[in-house]
Amino acid sequence: MQYTHTSKIANVIKRDGKVLMTTTKGDIPLVAERGEGDFIYDISGNRFVDFSSFISVYNFGVNSTRQVRDAIKRQVDTLMHSAFTDYYAQAPVAFAENLITMFPSGFGRVFFSNSGTEANEAAIKFSRYFSRRQYMMGFYNAFHGRTMGALSLTISKGVQRGRFGPFGAAVHAPYAYCYRCPLGKEYPSCALACVDHIKKAILSKEVSPKEVAAIFMEPVQGEGGYIVPPKEFAREIRAIADDNGIILVSDEVQAGYMRTGKFLAMDNFGVKADIYTMAKAVGAGLPMGVTVTRKSLGDMPLGAHSNTFGGNLAAVAGADAQLRYVKSHMASLASQASSKGALITKRLRAMANSNELIGDVRGLGLMIGVEFVKDRKSKEPAVKERDAVLMESFKNGLVMLPCGESSIRIIPPLTISIQHLRQGLDILEDAIEAVAKKDRKGS
Ligand SMILES: Cc1ncc(COP(=O)(O)O)c(C=O)c1O
Repeated sequence: MQYTHTSKIANVIKRDGKVLMTTTKGDIPLVAERGEGDFIYDISGNRFVDFSSFISVYNFGVNSTRQVRDAIKRQVDTLMHSAFTDYYAQAPVAFAENLITMFPSGFGRVFFSNSGTEANEAAIKFSRYFSRRQYMMGFYNAFHGRTMGALSLTISKGVQRGRFGPFGAAVHAPYAYCYRCPLGKEYPSCALACVDHIKKAILSKEVSPKEVAAIFMEPVQGEGGYIVPPKEFAREIRAIADDNGIILVSDEVQAGYMRTGKFLAMDNFGVKADIYTMAKAVGAGLPMGVTVTRKSLGDMPLGAHSNTFGGNLAAVAGADAQLRYVKSHMASLASQASSKGALITKRLRAMANSNELIGDVRGLGLMIGVEFVKDRKSKEPAVKERDAVLMESFKNGLVMLPCGESSIRIIPPLTISIQHLRQGLDILEDAIEAVAKKDRKGS
């Protein structure tokens, strides 16, 4: 499919620029109108294979499943909002009970909000409250959201923090980004020098571990570049938390909800956190965030934290229908994530053999990142080339998202057909070839 840029599309984009304050839109002129299964359609009838799941929200098909949509419609006709934080309602309680069954034993408290940043905001407040400590520890390249508490931990791009400080009490540690080790080491000969640095520099010189309430960790860094750490890294972080009475928060807003093949991404490392935060896919297309805590952490007093829309009935109806779908398709979803993820990485690694632009291909399940470089020796980030690959792919019928400095995320719905997956990969391969060719001509 060749994309047609119509005046209708141009008109919406122009009006958007006049009235909307700030967003994260790039150059891709997608004006979405309709979605179904593996495809997104824009307002002029252009059709795209979806490799974005609209930022890992539609993990089970664009616009979710019919059962989810029907459940939401039924609830909309009955009662959409019931001020669940002030009065009682059956559906949010049932959903919380259902959700808890997906967590390790001992997890028993759910807090509902409307987004990832709010789920993390709650986790920050709960950790401070339970531990009576003030500091948070996060990681370089982390993204936990944009409200002030979460932003204290977010450190993936300068623009996200510029002119917004001062921030809450937070320190940042090196994440095991082994392709570009922040300490200039090589894995595995480094013996996880990043962990050593956390112990010997950050938690002994910058802040006392006894003052750290929580460590916030994305099991796979998302916005920061789809960075998958070695398994031992997560285990070492768990050990640091255990040794110092620190709460470990796993931010699963992007990596959770089957995206990596497991309901909880942290399970890939054999690690259990103390608090999990989720959003994006949980609400099946409606806004929902959840913060799930170990019962042993304790309870918050009434009124210490709350909101208006948490447990919104329409959102809960969709989320519960989706969770039932996930539970009854667990094994198939897990195997689709791993087999389709393997298919994509194999193909991209084969492309990398003949294309210097591809510096690194990494991923877990169906959460895959491709990092673009000017050449493999210098590893200089190829930002313009990455953007050109996104645009070229879009023009040929494939929607994807950037991440990190020069990477692309490949996150189709887990249910994408093999045929459409291959179709998307063909478009991506042609786009990378076209951009590389242009580069060769230009140099
Ligand atoms: C890991 C992670 N945490 C938190 C957030 C913030 O979520 P929201 O945009 O819903 O506030 C995101 C969003 O991309 C995310 O990827």
